[in-house]
Amino acid sequence: MSDTYLFDSSIIEAAKKLLNGELVAFPTETVYGLGADAENPDAVAKIYQAKGRPANHPLIVHIPPDANIQYWTSSVPEEAFALMEAFWPGPLTLILPKADHIPSAVSGGQNSIGIRCPSHPVAQQLLKAFAMLKTNGQGGVAAPSANKFGHVSPTSAAHVLSEFPEEIASGILSVLEGDDSEIGIESTIVDLSRVKDGVGAVLLRPGHITRSQLAEVLGYQPASPDKSAPRVSGSLKAHYAPNTPLQLIKEADLDRLPSLVPAIEKWAVLTFADIDTLPSSSNLNYFNVSTNAQDYAHDIYALLRQLDTKGFQRIMVQSLPQDDDNWEALNDRLQRAAAAFE
Ligand code: TXA
Ligand code: MG
Repeated sequence: MSDTYLFDSSIIEAAKKLLNGELVAFPTETVYGLGADAENPDAVAKIYQAKGRPANHPLIVHIPPDANIQYWTSSVPEEAFALMEAFWPGPLTLILPKADHIPSAVSGGQNSIGIRCPSHPVAQQLLKAFAMLKTNGQGGVAAPSANKFGHVSPTSAAHVLSEFPEEIASGILSVLEGDDSEIGIESTIVDLSRVKDGVGAVLLRPGHITRSQLAEVLGYQPASPDKSAPRVSGSLKAHYAPNTPLQLIKEADLDRLPSLVPAIEKWAVLTFADIDTLPSSSNLNYFNVSTNAQDYAHDIYALLRQLDTKGFQRIMVQSLPQDDDNWEALNDRLQRAAAAFE
């Protein structure tokens, strides 16, 4: 406790709320998180309640850079150390065998646990301050993305405020505000929980850290998840969706849009094409998106939220480059967003 003077008063206040079993939303470099003390099942239950998330969907535990990973896990394979060395702090979550003393509320009843050390300075300060307040100096913050279940993740404090107005007004949730999330999509998730049983790394959720970056460190290609056993809520077919129906459209079909849009509807069209070359129609509003995957990821959730306020009947999204590592995560998110309306 003697080091608490190192922290901003807003950080200490937020850390104390977490220690009290309260919810605190905070910025990370990927998206904003909805945090609670990972070792307090009552606090963790409040996350599920606020999100409207089924209780068997496990949460990611966020830990500070100097944390002892062994505290949270029962075994740490070599691959985990290699990936942590390469990508922590940063947008990578590792699924590892859970230590028995960690309540299984946080892992949705599973005996594995998701762990991430974020790089965002505000997140790190909060995590350090929280761990310091714990009697044993070890503390982790369980935090899913700070959005209602199935909705678009928040990349700014304003998004969190609009997502949970009632919870914030009634004091159930407070928000530690920071800048906009630099990356803009959720962390890459790698499952290493069955390495000791001879099962290699599985890429559960693609993200900013790409498959080939992982392969370079692992020395082999991570496997893809067994589709028949979905264990990741973000891996449900429909997820990450705006309120306005979203549909993907091939580049070659953009010219047909004027004949597709009903006369009484207004559609937003996200495209890479030069807007001047596209057929104009009073029913179509074109928006240019970046041809750089990282910039696209940074902007997409904020753009979808903004379009949700504009009264469009549909958001048509030009299909993304396929078979390109850099676009795998965005393909994943937009396909799941579209699947919510199929
Ligand atoms: O970037 C991120 O990961 C953000 C920020 C806040 O850190 N968090 C995030 O959390 O995206 P959430 O709950 O929206 O997605 C976490 C995913 C879920 O799909 C969950 O099922 C999976 O991680 N997960 C967590 N623990 C797991 C476990 N033990 N086994 C399998 N999947 C797990
Ligand atoms: Mg989420």
